[in-house]
Amino acid sequence: MTHTQAQQRIAELTELIDRYNYEYYMNDRSLVSDFEFDALLRELIDLEQAFPDLSLPTSPTRRVGGEVNKTFRQVEHRFPMLSLGNTYSIAEIEDFESRTRKLLDGTPFTYTCELKYDGVAIGLTYRHGELVQAVTRGNGMVGDDITSNVRTIPTVPLRLKGDYPDDFEVRGEVVYPFEAFEAMNRLREAEGDEPFANPRNAASGSLKLQNSAECAKRRLLFCAYFMMFPDGTPIMGTPFATHFGRLEAAKEMGFKVQPYIKECKDINDIRFFIDFWDKERWNLPFGIDGVVIKVNQTDLWDRLGTTAKSPRWAIAYKFKAEQVSTPLLSVTYQVGRTGIVTPVANMQPVWLGGTMVRRATLNNADFMAKLDLHEDDSLLVEKGGEIIPKIVGVDLSQRNPQAQPINYVSACPVCGTPLVRSEGEAGFYCPNQDGCLPQLLGHLEHFVSRKAMNIESLGCERLRLLYDAGLVRNVADLYYLHRNQLIGLGTDTTASIQEKGAENILRAIEDSKQVPFERVLFALGIRYVGEVGAKKLVRYFGNIDALMDATVMELAMVEDVGEVTAMAVYDYFANPDHRTLISRLREAGVQMQAVDNRVSNRLEGMTFVVSGVFDHFSREEIKASIEQHGGKAGGSISSKTTYLLAGAKMGPEKLRKAQQLGVPILTEAEYLQLIGQ
Ligand code: IVH
Repeated sequence: MTHTQAQQRIAELTELIDRYNYEYYMNDRSLVSDFEFDALLRELIDLEQAFPDLSLPTSPTRRVGGEVNKTFRQVEHRFPMLSLGNTYSIAEIEDFESRTRKLLDGTPFTYTCELKYDGVAIGLTYRHGELVQAVTRGNGMVGDDITSNVRTIPTVPLRLKGDYPDDFEVRGEVVYPFEAFEAMNRLREAEGDEPFANPRNAASGSLKLQNSAECAKRRLLFCAYFMMFPDGTPIMGTPFATHFGRLEAAKEMGFKVQPYIKECKDINDIRFFIDFWDKERWNLPFGIDGVVIKVNQTDLWDRLGTTAKSPRWAIAYKFKAEQVSTPLLSVTYQVGRTGIVTPVANMQPVWLGGTMVRRATLNNADFMAKLDLHEDDSLLVEKGGEIIPKIVGVDLSQRNPQAQPINYVSACPVCGTPLVRSEGEAGFYCPNQDGCLPQLLGHLEHFVSRKAMNIESLGCERLRLLYDAGLVRNVADLYYLHRNQLIGLGTDTTASIQEKGAENILRAIEDSKQVPFERVLFALGIRYVGEVGAKKLVRYFGNIDALMDATVMELAMVEDVGEVTAMAVYDYFANPDHRTLISRLREAGVQMQAVDNRVSNRLEGMTFVVSGVFDHFSREEIKASIEQHGGKAGGSISSKTTYLLAGAKMGPEKLRKAQQLGVPILTEAEYLQLIGQ
């Protein structure tokens, strides 16, 4: 294909794909099958790869993501990103309305009422119809440049349609629709990641992902709610003269503008809108936490002005969390995979915020004690902007004076072992790590998870099958399974294992013997030892024998390993069952030693303290690099420190200390020279 032909075909494909995307995401209409769509996209990706000069930043292929940001560049907002005055009180909305009317002194005007989206605010800059920058709110003056992630959000147009000003900014909220949020959290749990607490946190976390291809998978939604122009843009006599007109215009340009916006003439209209959405909000596919009321005529905004923090021409009404009282039926206890025992209140089913609520967590022993729960109590349950109902108190007016208090259990509800509590923790846990079924299964699940040993063909159902068949009682047993023990397991379940499945499982187990020691250590599931902690321990001790022989003091010497973790590691290896487990794993061929990845001895005998942000390395990488060249990376500056390795935005405290002790400062470029790169 010639360059000209490619150019023409790219233009055709871009137009088609843009149109299909638009119809799909804006109008919920599929014009082609997924298969056809994927084929067109593939063709475009291939063409852009073959002719890189024809790959535009507005191409629909950019939605797939792939750009990686180590840190996000800070940029100053052209127009400060103000927040809104907000209130939970209708009386204050009435005050706002009458104050505004008084200030405008007879000038005719209207209001717009719209939803207050519960997500993350961003600002999008468009020049000549193309998205050039997306920035978070930050502190209102300076935010993070998250353009590559925002490009992957299907409802953010990369190229505008129809008429648009040459240069302007659109603001709106990135929200995580409930359905996509729950699907993502289920996936996270299956992969052994901590689920997000609520859609807002999840949206915020997604926008800060380093790899935009990951962000593309998150199915975020952008809701536009504001448009602003630099001085000199013609406004009066155009649709931009009203806020309502601006949002209509935004829709024409290709933005997703939620249809729930109303022009209101007085306080009665406003009240009606608020009451309506207070009840109706639970039927929306995404979260809102209130309603925003703005003066519609934009020329009046200047007349009304702004206070230090927020404009006088707008206000937010925030919904109160909905609350109900419902009788407690029983308290049951769940044993988690780490052994934490969580009390759960089972309640008379009650309708709350659009769903039937039957159960809610009582969090832990302290929370239960604070509630001073009694039998037959009625609980006050609340649902705010989030999906999960929360117990906020006991309805004391309903308490039966004869009722007995309910106490937190003292023994594990599954295995009967007396519960223990670590100092400073709010909850109790079952210490029977290796014999209590939920913990054992939890251990196995954690061990096989992607970030640990990555034995993907063993999901939780199959692990349960292996347990029920008496084949696996601990993680080492996995390495002694035979093909014929597996075939035919669980014939009547979806997790059943046939010949092919057995082979896949055994191959994955075999492959896991190559997993590096630091991940093996993480996979063991020692309390408080996460991915980072495992890495640091391995870097310090090098092999399992040194680690098993370490004293608590020695363990606590490792950077970021506190006393509590040191104790947990020590206790783990003090248990003879765990020592047996380790030898069986070792015999099976599982890695128990850090690979020696020393590249040179150039930094032998030198100790570095690292501070700030680097261009070529993450903080972890630069420390790893120091060690690969024989140096040591220390935590705090002392007279023994050879160099302070300083990146951008280094901590002022470190700088001062280095100067005080006369420790020389090394830049990243100088460091690269030092290691001969
Ligand atoms: S208008 C200058 N409209 O609520 C006025 N804000 O403090 C610009 N928000 O951080 C804001 N939905 O992120 C506006 N329909 C809506 C909104 C909305 C949510 C957020 C916004 C801001 C906060 C208000």
